[in-house]
Amino acid sequence: MEIADADRTRAFGARLLELLTGNVLTMLIGIGHRTGLFEAAARGPVTSGELAVRAGLAERYVREWLGAMVTGGIMEYDPTSERYELPPEHAPLLTGATASNIGPATGSMRTLAAVLPQVERCFVDGGGVPIAEFAAAAGDGLGESWRHVYDEHLVDGFLGRVPGLLDRLRAGAHVLDLGCGTGHAINLMARAFPRSTFTGLDVAADAIAQAETERAAMGALNAKFLVADAARLAPEPTFDVITAFDAIHDQADPETVLRRVRDALAPGGVFVMVDAKFSSNLEENIANPYAPMCYGISLLFCVPTSLAGGGAGLGAMWGQERATAMLTDAGFTVEAVLDSPRPQNCIYVCANPADAPG
Ligand SMILES: C[S@@+](CC[C@H](N)C(=O)[O-])C[C@H]1O[C@@H](n2cnc3c(N)ncnc32)[C@H](O)[C@@H]1O
Repeated sequence: MEIADADRTRAFGARLLELLTGNVLTMLIGIGHRTGLFEAAARGPVTSGELAVRAGLAERYVREWLGAMVTGGIMEYDPTSERYELPPEHAPLLTGATASNIGPATGSMRTLAAVLPQVERCFVDGGGVPIAEFAAAAGDGLGESWRHVYDEHLVDGFLGRVPGLLDRLRAGAHVLDLGCGTGHAINLMARAFPRSTFTGLDVAADAIAQAETERAAMGALNAKFLVADAARLAPEPTFDVITAFDAIHDQADPETVLRRVRDALAPGGVFVMVDAKFSSNLEENIANPYAPMCYGISLLFCVPTSLAGGGAGLGAMWGQERATAMLTDAGFTVEAVLDSPRPQNCIYVCANPADAPG
């Protein structure tokens, strides 16, 4: 077969090699994160034997891992001293309890890979994969990838961008977080705003059990957690602030959930929805470097979990146009769509429609 443009084919082959390499290196970065190899390497240049001792690991495995790290451009090697180095410029992206450490994200990839056969089956049979299967595959790692994001950005970066919200939380407000997962956001907010009360709600019992364990350890007496379906949220009690972090697009019935949120907002209340910052139109996402990963995560997690509940399968890439239309259809006044500290998320600020001047 004659190839129309051989250069284009060669360039695409190089791109595919890059993708396969990236996949393998992502697995190895995960190993480095979970075994403490990056933290040990960050302490200074080291031979493979010394690094194995530092991290308490088997040298033969550590040496092969180092080979991939060096040839993959993640670490450097000095053949004279036989020492490996994690450059100080790379270390902040691979070590530390910060949002810039990519390590926890590799845990999410590992969970998605574990549930891949079930998702592949859905391509043939339709249907979905219950969230419990992802929770079981994630184990202790459930919620890990957002944990440091909340530590670093929740109060000032997300809540602080919503006009007047921090003052309201400092003064004392009743707050609900829908789809709270393992509850770290609620527990941090409870600690930061002792005059407010916080309720975290999620349908996943495993996640709520972890949330409750953390709440008890933090001694957050002004927080509580409920295992419940957001689509059945009652209009009473009402809440002054309702938040949803990366959770609405995963709902089986997002329209109903949004209406329930609207009905449960107290007069003067605000709904703060943090979600993916993309367009609803594929063509407008093509140049966005975060788009392929977010479409992929949407496919591998958001769509199958929603479809498993007989749901809409909205997906994380529902986009700002569709999100704004659905919020408006649910009766909210969308007051602002703000940038967040993460380029892949935005913040929808929605007022209680009952507050609109009549
Ligand atoms: C992507 S996770 C986000 C979790 C958490 N907000 C965070 O940022 O870590 C979406 C969450 O929505 C929850 N969820 C999905 N459908 C739900 C429903 N009908 N009612 C309550 N929670 C739901 C899931 O269990 C999951 O914990």
